[in-house]
Amino acid sequence: MTPLQLPPRLILKVSTAEEWEGQWVLVPAAVASEPGPGSPGKQVGELLLVSGDPPALQISLGTQDKLTTANLRKAGTAAARWLVEHKAAQVGLNAADLDGLGIERGLEAFCEGLVLGAFRFSRYKLEDKSAFLTEVSLLTAVEGAALLDRVDRVSSVAKAVNLAREWSHEPPNIINPHTLAQRAQALAVETGLKCTLFGERELSELGAGAILSVGLGSKTPSQMILLAHPGHGSQAGAQPVVVVGKAITFDTGGYSLKPTQSMVGMKFDKCGGMAVLGIMKAVAALNLSIPVVGIVAAAENMISGHAYRPNDIITSLSGKTIEIISTDAEGRMVLSDVLTYASTQLNPRAIIDLATLTGGVVTALGKIRAGLMSTDDDLAGALAAAGERSDDRLWRLPLDEEYFDLIKGSDSDLKNSAGVPQASPIVGGIFLKQFVLNQVPWAHIDIAGTATLEAKGTRHATGFGVRLVLDYLQSLT
Ligand code: BES
Ligand code: ZN
Ligand code: ZN
Repeated sequence: MTPLQLPPRLILKVSTAEEWEGQWVLVPAAVASEPGPGSPGKQVGELLLVSGDPPALQISLGTQDKLTTANLRKAGTAAARWLVEHKAAQVGLNAADLDGLGIERGLEAFCEGLVLGAFRFSRYKLEDKSAFLTEVSLLTAVEGAALLDRVDRVSSVAKAVNLAREWSHEPPNIINPHTLAQRAQALAVETGLKCTLFGERELSELGAGAILSVGLGSKTPSQMILLAHPGHGSQAGAQPVVVVGKAITFDTGGYSLKPTQSMVGMKFDKCGGMAVLGIMKAVAALNLSIPVVGIVAAAENMISGHAYRPNDIITSLSGKTIEIISTDAEGRMVLSDVLTYASTQLNPRAIIDLATLTGGVVTALGKIRAGLMSTDDDLAGALAAAGERSDDRLWRLPLDEEYFDLIKGSDSDLKNSAGVPQASPIVGGIFLKQFVLNQVPWAHIDIAGTATLEAKGTRHATGFGVRLVLDYLQSLT
């Protein structure tokens, strides 16, 4: 199986009543405030199997007052997980059951949940992959084509989330900046996106010393990976939205070495970049009318005789010099050159970056909301609203200029770390802000907390940011 061929996942299709006969059925429904026997409990996503021919799987949507798109998505996810665990390959769902709830985009949310819940990272496990849930048939009386169109769109989004998750889980001995660039190129061929790669030579010719510095200790040098969608029917010269992602394929911390326990899981330091690749895949599948450029800032943060070290002074693409205080503050180094490149070379209407940038954002917001920092109130407002709709929720943090004092350089223009834990997500944000030129509206989303979840003692990638940014992009004209 090539990396682009994902293991069997859920396909949503539309069926007639005859084709549907004999299949297991999913029955999502709101429950009474005192649910009796024969009904699942009040918890959203609680399940009750009702035997019969065919058997029905009742799924609780909570009580009537809990009917929201976010809860419908959750219920869909719970149903798919149960079906995967119980090795059901095909099930039916009556579209009218969900449309009858009167929740706008309710069916879409439930189906999105189904595709998300069917995800497993099983590439390296010797288990029976054929036992996975692969098909949900939607029963419809009349509007077959329109229904298919509705679920096709959410299915493209959910598949993009699953691609981001799948690639985030790949271990660092498989994905490094070089193999990642190859994958992005293959993705571009598959989707019709235009791919441009900047390897070591191109980055040094540009003068992108900051992104290069992080990769010096690695066998595979840094890469800047660009994927572009021209915008369906958009005018020549239309300004693109640029979405940038941090992809540290492994973060040891470098000479500012991480302790053993904190280093485990640092393959997930590429989640921002993987979200960008997922977003671009869906942008192409949805054939959005606006131009969008995705840029992945890829590097591996390692130790060797060539690695960068504390007290090094690096010249960035912007010309500003950076003194390294911590080699573990590498995310801002790789992003700084990319932000300068995007703001000076691509004439963007907005730049949004997604990055697992600081442990401090996990302390501040936990795993529920990502930190949002922005130089533009309209952009921040639009992203926060997209976050509520998509349930990839954000919370804005300030970027007062005084925070810059913490990283003002003494022997250089700026330092890459304050050296104290004060306001670390904001210090990360204010650092990045110095590299966004030409007053381009810019937003930084620190996903260090939300990119992964702990469940049953293991860590999972969430694909955070994919639904958020796709919702935002679809709200633009
Ligand atoms: N990749 C880490 C941030 C991180 C921490 C992601 C926990 C996911 C979970 C980042 O490169 C890092 O090490 N940041 C430092 C910055 C500090 C040295 C200024 C941090 O947050 O401690
Ligand atoms: Zn680090
Ligand atoms: Zn990192």
